[in-house]
Amino acid sequence: MQIINSPAEMQAISRAWAKGKSIGFVPTMGFLHEGHLSLVRESKHNCDITVVSIFVNPSQFGANEDLVSYPRDMKRDLELLEGCKADYVFCPEASDMYPKPYHSWVNVDGLSEVLCGASRPGHFRGVATVVLKLVNLVKPDYMYMGEKDFQQVAVLNTMLKELNVLTRIASCPIVREPDGLAMSSRNTYLTGEARQQALCLSKAIFNAKLMYKEGCRNVNSIITECQSIISSHGGETDYIKIVNPNTLLEELIPKDDSRIILAVKIGKTRLIDNASITPDTL
Ligand code: PAJ
Repeated sequence: MQIINSPAEMQAISRAWAKGKSIGFVPTMGFLHEGHLSLVRESKHNCDITVVSIFVNPSQFGANEDLVSYPRDMKRDLELLEGCKADYVFCPEASDMYPKPYHSWVNVDGLSEVLCGASRPGHFRGVATVVLKLVNLVKPDYMYMGEKDFQQVAVLNTMLKELNVLTRIASCPIVREPDGLAMSSRNTYLTGEARQQALCLSKAIFNAKLMYKEGCRNVNSIITECQSIISSHGGETDYIKIVNPNTLLEELIPKDDSRIILAVKIGKTRLIDNASITPDTL
């Protein structure tokens, strides 16, 4: 496994990769867990060369968000990636990714302004910008991303398509803890009672799927039930929506491919989760 810090070196290496070799890329912000590692394994399985990036991207954090406290453990991350036989790990410095003064940003209108984008203005501009920069440095054929960040995949799919970037996203299922909580680097903030309270996200989703399975097609009834599960666990709902999986627009009547998607605050920790409304297993 080779570790690269300089963007220029990353670009020189990717330019030298032989044509015909498939390149898989897993962008991350580190503090890796099984969700991240599932993406690395999928890339290893399908591609000749797997590159993982670890970069806590400052431009996707709002002024009052957790950039400074975001969990970091580079030594452990590198050990885990070594264990998965990743070929390259790219860990740039913020000052090399955003040399000052910095001017160039990517905006994906519409999709970036709903759901998480409504509560986190500028977040998806930061995500789209860093991902386009990383794609330009790594030049991957496939980028492996988790459905955990469903809106992120939708925003980035649109960006890649509309900016004529050939990289394609392979979106992969959400990896959960045995009790249903979707894995997240931010779960480390959940101590004691908050860890139990956080189960309200997957419980609300599970209940919504059950209601749909039993024939309920009333969006408001499903969402009201979700809200009461969340508040009875002490969670504070940011949003709960049933949306079209491509446009992220709210559905008037839920359909088999509709997505239930939510963001909830447990104390100061903001968690997200989503699933297809169809009654497969969570
Ligand atoms: P990060 O939160 O570290 O996530 C990196 C990738 O891992 C994303 O594609 C995310 O969807 C995926 N992932 C996280 N938890 C997962 C889980 N429980 N199951 C499956 N996949 C999971 O997402 C980001 O970083 C950043 O926004 C990034 C794209 C790196 C840009 O900075």
